[in-house]
Amino acid sequence: MRLFVLTGAGCSAESGTGTFRDKGGLWACFDPARLATPKAFARAPDDVHAFYNMRRRNVLEAHPNAAHYALARLGSELAKRGGSLFLCTQNVDDLHERAGAQQAVHMHGELLKARCVRCKATIHWEQDLNRQDVCPSCGAEGSLSPDVVWFGEMPLHLETIQNALNAADIFVAIGTSGSVYPAAGFAAAARERDIPTCELNMEPSDNSHLFTEAHYGPATEVVPAWVERILLAVEQ
Ligand code: APR
Repeated sequence: MRLFVLTGAGCSAESGTGTFRDKGGLWACFDPARLATPKAFARAPDDVHAFYNMRRRNVLEAHPNAAHYALARLGSELAKRGGSLFLCTQNVDDLHERAGAQQAVHMHGELLKARCVRCKATIHWEQDLNRQDVCPSCGAEGSLSPDVVWFGEMPLHLETIQNALNAADIFVAIGTSGSVYPAAGFAAAARERDIPTCELNMEPSDNSHLFTEAHYGPATEVVPAWVERILLAVEQ
């Protein structure tokens, strides 16, 4: 069995990292046009650094939740049985990895990395990032930005993701509103291949009509329960 699992902010929400479009979400409190675009970084780098420094500290204080652990367990159990779980996340936290996931493709980048806009090096980065910081690779000052994909930029690893989606037997979306492309288009691509699609979310997403199965509730409840059912099915 080859699973393709797409996660969004709702998968990490119960770890305290927040979501974007829920009531009181990040984009209700902060303007993405001022903080999450290349132009914003060129215009006001200190504001952008402050925003991502706050989010990076929040991720470092967060802990993986039962949904992250259940997905990590599913990945290792499937691998033991010759199956696979391709984990594609829109999240920029490292909670899948900290829960033990062997593989997670971060299509929107990673908060715990910095990217040099001059030499393109990416560096593991846990402390606050500021304009005064020097790129350890090329020595440039002020050229480091958070290694996240901003609005208007191309998401990462799209060819790998497309190949995995084309090979999947089941597509599962967890904790995502289905409102940001290209991730929001994955469910339709799976339906075009006529494979089962499953949505695990707090409430029906924007593209809930594309799912052949759905379970609604907190990820820490619906994801472990769904993983149990999948593992029972592979046992049979
Ligand atoms: N359990 C399950 N689902 C939840 C929970 C929870 N505890 N809390 C919230 N949700 C659901 C919401 O109902 C919503 O459908 O998670 C989804 C979160 O949607 P968004 O806030 O839009 O987050 P996401 O879909 O990940 O956003 C995609 O948009 O701004 C960009 O780069 C950003 O990666 C992000 C992308």
